[in-house]
Amino acid sequence: MIPADLVVRNCRQLLTCQGPLPKRRDSLSDVGLLPNAWIASHQGRIVFIGDAESFRSQVRLDYGAQAIDASSLVGLPGFVDAHTHLPFAGSREEEFVLRLKGLTYQQLAERGLGIQTSVRATRAASSTELTRLCLERLDRMLLQGATTVEAKSGYGLNPGDELKQLESLAEAGRQHPVDIVPTLMAAHEIPPEYKEHREDYIRLIVETIVPEIRKRNLAEFFDVFCEQGVFSLEETRRLAQAAQAAGFKIKVHADEFATLGGGALAAEVGAVSAEHLIAVDDSGIAALAAGRTTAVLLPAVPFFLMLDRKAPARKLIDAGAVVALASDYNPGSSLCESMLFVLQLGVFTHGLGIEEAINACTANAACALDRQETVGSLEVGKKMDLLLCDIPNYLFLAYRLGSNPIRHVIKNGKLVVKDGSRVTRP
Ligand code: NIG
Ligand code: FE
Repeated sequence: MIPADLVVRNCRQLLTCQGPLPKRRDSLSDVGLLPNAWIASHQGRIVFIGDAESFRSQVRLDYGAQAIDASSLVGLPGFVDAHTHLPFAGSREEEFVLRLKGLTYQQLAERGLGIQTSVRATRAASSTELTRLCLERLDRMLLQGATTVEAKSGYGLNPGDELKQLESLAEAGRQHPVDIVPTLMAAHEIPPEYKEHREDYIRLIVETIVPEIRKRNLAEFFDVFCEQGVFSLEETRRLAQAAQAAGFKIKVHADEFATLGGGALAAEVGAVSAEHLIAVDDSGIAALAAGRTTAVLLPAVPFFLMLDRKAPARKLIDAGAVVALASDYNPGSSLCESMLFVLQLGVFTHGLGIEEAINACTANAACALDRQETVGSLEVGKKMDLLLCDIPNYLFLAYRLGSNPIRHVIKNGKLVVKDGSRVTRP
C-alpha cells in the first residue's frame, strides 16, 4: 500500500495538465481531464491520482492524514507565474495617470520616469522593507492561484542594490510557501550614471555582478531587456553568453516594442525562454517554433499599456512554438498579481482556447522555468501544488469574470489557502 498524508477526494473535475511536455500545437488543448478523481500526496509529493476504487485498494492514509472533500470543486495544478519583477519599492500611480492622459510608456522613460522611478525607490529601500513587500505580494498572488513565482532583480542596477534585491527575495522564499525562482536582471536598463558610457556598465555586469551573484548562488536565471534604446542585439548576445559561461540559464525580454530579433537570438543562444514578443516577426516565430525556447507571452502588458498590438499568440502556437503565459508583475507596465486574470486575458485578448490558456499558465509555464519535472502538472512524483475551485466545471475559469473561484490552495502538500483565506501558522 502507498502511504499518504493528504487526500483530496472525488474532485468533480481534475485537470492534470500532464505531459508529454512541453505542449505544442494540438497538445496545448489537452488538459488531462479526469472526472470524479482522487489525488493523494505524501510529504509534499503526489503519490496517487485515480478513481475511488483504486484509491481504496492502493493507498493507506497515515494516522492524522488530512482529507478534503472536493465533490463540488474543480482541481488543477497551481499556476506557475514565469515572469515577475517582484522585489521593487515604491509605486507609479502618478505615471499611470499621465498615461491615462495620453503619454506613452516610452515618453515617460524619455523624461527619466518609468523604470528609473522604481530604481530610485528600490535603491532607497532596505532589504527588510523589500522582503516585507515581497511577502505581501506573494500572499495576494497565492490567493489568485500562483504556487511558483519567478522573480527578477533589475531595479538596483549596481552591484550592491542588485544583491540587496536578490537577498530580500531569498529571505522571502525562506518565509513564504510559494516557490520563488530568482533571476538576475542587472541588464534591465542602463542606469543614469552610466548613460554616457554604457560599455562600462556592460563590463560591470559581466565582470562584477554576474560572478558575485553566481558565487552567492542567489539567482538561477539571467535576463536581458533587448530593446531599442536599452540593450542592442549584439549587447544582448554578449551578456547572455557571459552569463551562460558563468552558469546561469538565460531569459530574454525580446521584441517587446521594436522588432530587434531578440526572439530569434533567444532561440539561437539556447535561452530557456523569450518573453513579451509583441513585435516578433515571422523569422522570430520560425526560430522559436524550431527550438526549445519557451515563448512567454504577457497579455497583461498590452492591456495595462492600452496598446493596439499584441503578441501573435495564434501564429506562435500554430507554428509549433512552446507558448506560456505570465503576469510580468511590475509597477510600470503590469501591476497584475493574478494569474487567473492573465489566463482570462489569454482567452479574451490573445485568441487562446480555454484549455490552451490553462496549459500555458501551468505545464508550459513550468517549462519556461525549467521546472517541468516538479511543477505545472499533476503527476505522481511531482509536487502536490493544487488549486481547488468552486465552479461547476473548468470552463468557468475563463467564463466567469471578476470574482475569485479559488477556494483552497495546496502547496507542497500543505493547505495554505482555506476557504479563500491564507492559512497562517500560529
Ligand atoms: O517587463 N520591459 C521591461 N521591463 C518591464 C517593465 C518594468 C517597469 O516599467 O518598471 C517589463 O515590462
Ligand atoms: Fe518584464
